[in-house]
Formats: sequence, C-alpha cells, structure tokens
Amino acid sequence: MDNGIQIAIDGPAAAGKSTIAKITASKLGYTYIDTGAMYRALTYKALEEHIDVYNDDALVSLLEGIVIDLLPSEEGQIVRVNGEDITEAIRSQEVTSNVSATAAQPRVRKMMVEKQRLLATTKGVVMDGRDIGTAVLPDAELKIFMTASVEERAARRFAENNTRGIHRSMEELCQDIATRDKADTERKASPLKQASDAVFIDTTSMTIEEVADTIIQHAEKRKQR
Ligand code: DC
Repeated sequence: MDNGIQIAIDGPAAAGKSTIAKITASKLGYTYIDTGAMYRALTYKALEEHIDVYNDDALVSLLEGIVIDLLPSEEGQIVRVNGEDITEAIRSQEVTSNVSATAAQPRVRKMMVEKQRLLATTKGVVMDGRDIGTAVLPDAELKIFMTASVEERAARRFAENNTRGIHRSMEELCQDIATRDKADTERKASPLKQASDAVFIDTTSMTIEEVADTIIQHAEKRKQR
C-alpha cells in the first residue's frame, strides 16, 4: 500500500456517502470513518439517559464520560459505546429524529471534531460527514461533495429501511430528509457547506460503482501529485 491520502466526503442526509465511502476505502485499502455514527452514538446515550438533546453543556458532560469506539468490520464499521455494540441501535427512527439537534450544539461539535482529527492521523483514510472538508480535515488531499435529489435519496433510504425492517412511507421519508437538510444547512455551528476546493458529484442517476470509480480516479490523480 502507498502512504495514502485523506479523502473527505461530505453531503446531505441519505446521499449515499456511507455506502460509497465504505466501498472506496475497501478498494483503496484505506480506513473508513463514519463521523455521523459518532453523533448518533451520543444521541443514543442522551436518549437512554433522558438528557435534553438541545442542552449543549449536559451533552458535553455525557460525551466526556463515555467511550465511543469505531471498529472496522466486513460491513464497514462497528460502533460501540462503553463496550456495548450499538451499530444497529443508532439507526433507529428515534435516534435519526433527534441527531440533528445534538449535532447542532457548538461545544459538542468542537469535541467531536477533535476526536475525528485524532482518528484521521493514520494515512489512508476515507472520512464521511457534513463538515469534513470544511472543518475536520481542511487539508485533505481529496474532498468530495456528494448529493442527489430529495426523491432519489428517499428512494434509497426506503430500500435500505426494507432490509432493516423499518417502515416509513416515501412521503414521510421525503419530509424527514427535507427537514434534516434544513437543520444541517441552517445551523450556526459548521453548517453543511461545500468546501471551495471540493469535487461536486450529483449521484442522482449514477450507480454506486460509477460513483466509487469516479472518486478512485480522483484519488489516483491526487496521489501522483
Ligand atoms: O450521516 P448521518 O445521517 O449518520 O448523520 C447523522 C447526523 O449527524 C446528521 O443530522 C448530520 C450530523 N453530522 C454532522 O453534523 N457532522 C458530521 N460530520 C456528521 C454528521
């Protein structure tokens, strides 16, 4: 393996970032880090302990007292909190509905960004989220901003939910996605925004393989620099 580069993948909810990041990391032999899972893990714990997801100070105290581990696995990543496997639990509707609030708290974000930078110190990393190219890894050699239409993202989430036994109609999913887009782009603390040096990819009519190959081609060019 070469020394590797840092690849930052940002974009709105359900744009396929995790799927693409996992495949890209696997093809390049890189480490995959899903930063959304860290906000979800904190949200899961806050809900369990009845902590207000809008209370920045309370969330920071909680975050200081828990250990979130992201471990590589065949499927991409195992998420543990204080040793408990919460990989599936963090995808519940309850966590999904509350995570934008947690992720909007400025002190929470500051701590998460510090943790995420530490995770990316090894070379050869693909990190996905909302602020990776703009705040977490501003010097990443390759930045991707991925999106797709709301309808296409809802259709992809619908198919994914089917495999997880989660039942939401297409209408509800379009509404969920539009609400999360609004919360993620309009929050004060590092809102979702395309980095000025990011490659923009509209994946609406592309296959997963096509998107992954496009990113790998860009990565090969960056490695030669
Ligand atoms: O990608 P996801 O749906 O698992 O992300 C969950 C939430 O966390 C989403 O509402 C946006 C937020 N998030 C963030 O603000 N910054 C990140 N780097 C990753 C996720």
